[in-house]
Amino acid sequence: MISFINATCSFRKNAGVKNLNFSIDDGEFVFLTGPSGAGKSTLLRLIYMDLFPEKGKVLIRDYDSNKIKDRQIPFLRRKVGMIFQDFQLLKDRNVYQNVAISLYASHYKIREIKSRVYDILNQVGLGHRVHHKPMELSGGEQQRVAIARALVKEPIVLLADEPTGNLDPRVSIELMNLLHKINKKGTAVIIATHNYSLIKRVPGARLIQMNEGEIASIT
Ligand SMILES: Nc1ncnc2c1ncn2[C@@H]1O[C@H](COP(=O)(O)OP(=O)(O)OP(=O)(O)O)[C@@H](O)[C@H]1O
Ligand SMILES: [Mg+2]
Repeated sequence: MISFINATCSFRKNAGVKNLNFSIDDGEFVFLTGPSGAGKSTLLRLIYMDLFPEKGKVLIRDYDSNKIKDRQIPFLRRKVGMIFQDFQLLKDRNVYQNVAISLYASHYKIREIKSRVYDILNQVGLGHRVHHKPMELSGGEQQRVAIARALVKEPIVLLADEPTGNLDPRVSIELMNLLHKINKKGTAVIIATHNYSLIKRVPGARLIQMNEGEIASIT
């Protein structure tokens, strides 16, 4: 297997992590766990290159955290999809527009954008909500819009920070099934969560346990 994420880095102060050393292979399903404040969100931000290490580096395919230029960040983020805990949907735009926005800055023609957006919305089970605004959707549906927006770029990895935080248990299970299905099609998935019952639902997933800004164990 080829690792597409390789990180060996450290911070002296003022960050959510201290020393990190890990790699992640193509197509893996990884759970990131640990108590509140352990550094899970910070680790995801390093992969999204929203945060940079003080020493060492994070490599995502050919992108090197020490060398990447500001103008290259959007290209990296086509490869790295992030689902934020608060979804960050645009309230005044409908479901279609919230997903299509990921593609507007790219070279795609309108017709191709349309077919990709409809395809992904059907995959996440939102084909019947295309014209709804976020306020007219349930929490679980809003989250699926956020997933569709990340996936429409066909990233190599999908990062999710506490994706089941505000969802009821049944919707959480549906969400895990969806992420599992996405993973089986080849997209790597990294989920930061406190919820150990979810971890048991994905056989073969790797577990990275964090504690006090460091990786306590990797399976
Ligand atoms: N930029 C920063 N400067 C200083 N401290 C920070 C910074 N970012 C995060 N921290 C601290 O680092 C620790 C790890 O934060 P992080 O958000 O990564 O934890 P987490 O594991 O995601 O926790 P939770 O489960 O509560 O979301 C926390 O104690 C946080 O207050
Ligand atoms: Mg967090």
